[in-house]
Parts: sequence; structure tokens; C-alpha cells
Amino acid sequence: MKALILVGGFGTRLRPLTLSVPKPLVDFANKPMILHQIEALKEIGVTEVVLAINYQPEVMINFLKEYEVKLGIKIICSQETEPLGTAGPLALARDKLDDGSGEPFFVLNSDVISEYPLAEMILFHKAHASEASIMVTQVEEPSKYGVVVMEEETGKVEKFVEKPKTFVGNKINAGIYLLNPSVLGRIQLRPTSIEKEVFPAIAAEGKLHAMVLQGFWMDIGQPRDYITGLRLYLGSLRKQAPAVLAAGPHVLGNVLVHETATVGEGCLIGPDVAIGPGCVVEPGVRLARCTLMRGARVKKHACVSRSIVGWHSTVGCWARVENMTILGEDVHVGDEIYTNGGVVLPHKEIKSSILHPEIVM
Ligand code: GDD
Ligand code: MG
Repeated sequence: MKALILVGGFGTRLRPLTLSVPKPLVDFANKPMILHQIEALKEIGVTEVVLAINYQPEVMINFLKEYEVKLGIKIICSQETEPLGTAGPLALARDKLDDGSGEPFFVLNSDVISEYPLAEMILFHKAHASEASIMVTQVEEPSKYGVVVMEEETGKVEKFVEKPKTFVGNKINAGIYLLNPSVLGRIQLRPTSIEKEVFPAIAAEGKLHAMVLQGFWMDIGQPRDYITGLRLYLGSLRKQAPAVLAAGPHVLGNVLVHETATVGEGCLIGPDVAIGPGCVVEPGVRLARCTLMRGARVKKHACVSRSIVGWHSTVGCWARVENMTILGEDVHVGDEIYTNGGVVLPHKEIKSSILHPEIVM
């Protein structure tokens, strides 16, 4: 079985992290976002993943070569010379996706996180004899997503409205699709949107079905949602694989500590924290609702909450980093500094406090 992951887009909403790597390679719960998806696809028997790329292809290709071998899955790139939106890339990859067998293939947005019930989705798709199946989930703020109006009993989609300005419903497109190859015949090779052009047309013919996603879901393409997504993901790990979470008197709630990271004496870590590979957390540190990416160091008695500390960055002694502060790669926050929100671009040194959320170039 095959799958295509939509990896394009500049990831502007996740800057400064996406100034260092393409969005799908930004770590989430200690591994690049896209690996969560590739592993889930591999798990249900996908043998070939097509990455639809339009930005920094070399970085992605080099990174994924390693995982092709590690995971035993074929990863190929389909590279656009101009951004083709969310449908155009399918037309570009037509020959890679349609091998004549008639077998459906998966399409995933690269920035969504869930328990990926892909095996259930295959059963759903077959049972409904649908041309296209999409996963939907309920959210409180539907206006920033694609809203799906469906017949509750049959799952048949009546209407698909991308980013509606007025309330249409609260079930939204989760960014996980299973499509018959015939869908490729509906898409032209030009910049075009699957949400605005393709799904509404299939729905009008009564051939689009929606499966309600069980478990958590989040689009982690914005810092606030990234932090919320981490809480949901760790909560799900607590149920599915509690042994991978950290335990001990210094741990509060759900915490993931990479095996190569070290945590000093007298720290209090949690809830909802991910400490990445090679990180050093010195004694007496307080961490809550935050992520430390590979190689980060938090020095003695510092406190980090509701924030993201990028790769190889450091937080000084007695510093407080809080309220959605996002430190890019290789940022150094001085001793006793306070940051109240703010986005700090890579390779910066912060020598005076950031009292209000701002962008530090
Ligand atoms: N190859 C390629 N080329 N990929 C692209 C392009 C492009 O030109 N533009 C966007 N993508 C990829 C993004 O990288 C992402 O994986 C996916 O397509 C969706 O784009 P986003 O920019 O993240 O869209 P969104 O979050 O505003 O909305 C989409 O996702 C929501 C769920 O998170 C839509 O699919 C909504 O309907 C959906 O509810
Ligand atoms: Mg998105």
C-alpha cells in the first residue's frame, strides 16, 4: 500500500523553529513530526511513502535516507518547482501513487498528530464503498479548519467548507485521507486545493465519507497548539504505553525524558514535558508544559513553563522562561533573565528580560 504526505508549505506559523528545519522535521515528543506518521503508516503495512515537497528538499531527503533503512520502508520525494497547494502535488505524483492495482492510498497533512487509526480507516473505506474517505474530529473553534457536514448515521459527507466565516458545524477535516486512484483523475496539474476544489466536488456526487476519529487530535503547526498537542499526546501515551513515561519523586504527571538526557538532583519536572536527546537539566530546575529539543541545557534553578526551547539552546541559572516563549536553535538566555512570551530567532543571546511577547531578531 502507498501513502503521500503533504510536506510543503513554509511553516511560517512555527517560526523560529522552521528557520532551522522544514516543519515536518521539527521535533515533537522527542522525534521529528513526520516520523510519527511514517511509523504509523509502516505499522499498518504501507511499503512506500511519497513526500510531496516544495521547500528545502535536500534537508528532508538526507534526513529520511537514514530512516528508510531503519524502518525498512521506501521513501520517495516528489518535488514541486512551484507550490501546488494541497491537491496539485497528488497530480504531480500520479504515476507514483497509481500502479494500476486500483488499491486506495493514504494522504496525510504533515502537521497533524493523533493515534492514527489507519487500519480502522481502511475497514471504514471498504464498508462504505467510498471514492474518498476523510477522518474528522470535533473542535471548539472550527473556523480555522475545513468543516465537514455529514449524515451522522451513514458518514456520507453533505458539505465540505474550508475555513468557513460563519458557523456551519464543528466537525472538521483532520487531514488524514484514504483515496481511490480515481480521485487522481479529478485533479489537474496546477496549484489547487483539495479542500476547496476536490472534496466539495466528490461530496456533491455523494462519494465522500467521513469517519469520526477516536482519541485525541491536534494540528501542531502553531506554538500554542503544539504545546496543547504535547499534553494530549502524552496523555494518550499514559494509556497506551505508560512504561515509556518517566517516573520518580521528581516527576509530576506525564513526562517524556530521552534516554540520553540527564536530569539533576532536586528538580521538579511536569506535567506535560518532553526532554529531548542529549539535553542537560541541571539541579533544582522546574519544568512544566514545555519541550526541550535535542542538546538543550537548562541551568541550575531555572524555570521553564509553557514554552519551547529549540535545539542546543541554553537557559541561564535562575532564569524564568514562560508564557509561550519560543527559543529558536542555539539561543542563549542569560542568568536571572525573565522572558514573558516572545519568539527568539536562532543564534541570539538574550541579555535583558523580555517583559512582553515580542519577536527578537
Ligand atoms: N507539497 C505541498 N505543496 N504541500 C503543501 C502545500 C504546497 O504547496 N501547501 C500546504 N502544504 C501542506 C502543509 O505542509 C500541510 O502538511 C498540509 O499541506 C496542510 O497545509 P496547512 O497550511 O497546514 O493547512 P491548514 O492547517 O491551514 O488546513 C489544513 O489542515 C486542517 C487540519 O489541520 C486543511 O486541510 C483543513 O481542511 C484541515 O482542517
Ligand atoms: Mg496545518
